[in-house]
Amino acid sequence: MESATTTTTHGTPHGSQPASQLGVAPAARLKGITKTYFKPDGSVLVEALRALDLDIPRGQYIAIMGASGSGKSTLMNLLGCLDRPTAGQYELDGKPVESLGDDELSRVRGEKIGFVFQAFNLISELSILENAEIPLLYQGIPAKERRVRAFESLSLVGLENRVHHRPRELSGGQQQRAAIARALVGRPAILMADEPTGNLDSATGQAILEVFEELHKKGLTLIMVTHDDRIAQRCQRVVRLRDGSIEFDRVNQQTMAHRGDSA
Ligand SMILES: Nc1ncnc2c1ncn2[C@@H]1O[C@H](COP(=O)(O)OP(=O)(O)O)[C@@H](O)[C@H]1O
Ligand SMILES: [Mg+2]
Repeated sequence: MESATTTTTHGTPHGSQPASQLGVAPAARLKGITKTYFKPDGSVLVEALRALDLDIPRGQYIAIMGASGSGKSTLMNLLGCLDRPTAGQYELDGKPVESLGDDELSRVRGEKIGFVFQAFNLISELSILENAEIPLLYQGIPAKERRVRAFESLSLVGLENRVHHRPRELSGGQQQRAAIARALVGRPAILMADEPTGNLDSATGQAILEVFEELHKKGLTLIMVTHDDRIAQRCQRVVRLRDGSIEFDRVNQQTMAHRGDSA
């Protein structure tokens, strides 16, 4: 499993044999993805993404960087099935997404994607156990199983002794852990995080990155937007966007060696 993560598609010529034909579909594959925002009169307002090709192998830990307005959120929204491209193909976990209806798209999003946000986005009236159960409600999982799985998910991030706390009774770092538990409870194929450490002091941010690194070691695919070069250095791969195109796409050899991923 881990050895597959050390092979990236960096430099793979467009049109080469898809990994799916080799029996290992990437977690996400974008081909010629364009997202254009139009003015009410139908003329082009912004080309937020321009014919983007991107393969994200299963188990990869990838940082998305780029200046404000370069298209990071647009890309995350498309990867997370929150929005649809203007043109191009998106395969999520080996399945084409563009042919899905809106209901199916929401279902796929619920099953395949976990989201972590800069602002945690926990519901303040609920305990973190109840918060962590929410994605399973949408999947129609019975109450008892929801509870068990939410507890497991909170244990995974070290919050098993805090499950009945409300978000405000927890530190920022603990709240972000709870948000990660909620993102994981549906056993997603991809965990997407948009500046997950942006609201945290650096020591707490480090601890959250360590949680991600643990999840990465367990084989989860992680896509993280960050503005911080030092954080990006800790990921396996860095994709930098510029004006809706990929400015560079680089593998952090050092990081992989450091983590001993081949072991
Ligand atoms: N809903 C929208 N309508 C019109 N333009 C948008 C919309 N969302 C984003 N944009 C534009 O698309 C470009 C990329 O935005 P975004 O993906 O939010 O960039 P980033 O997250 O890198 O800051 C920007 O020029 C932005 O103004
Ligand atoms: Mg953004």
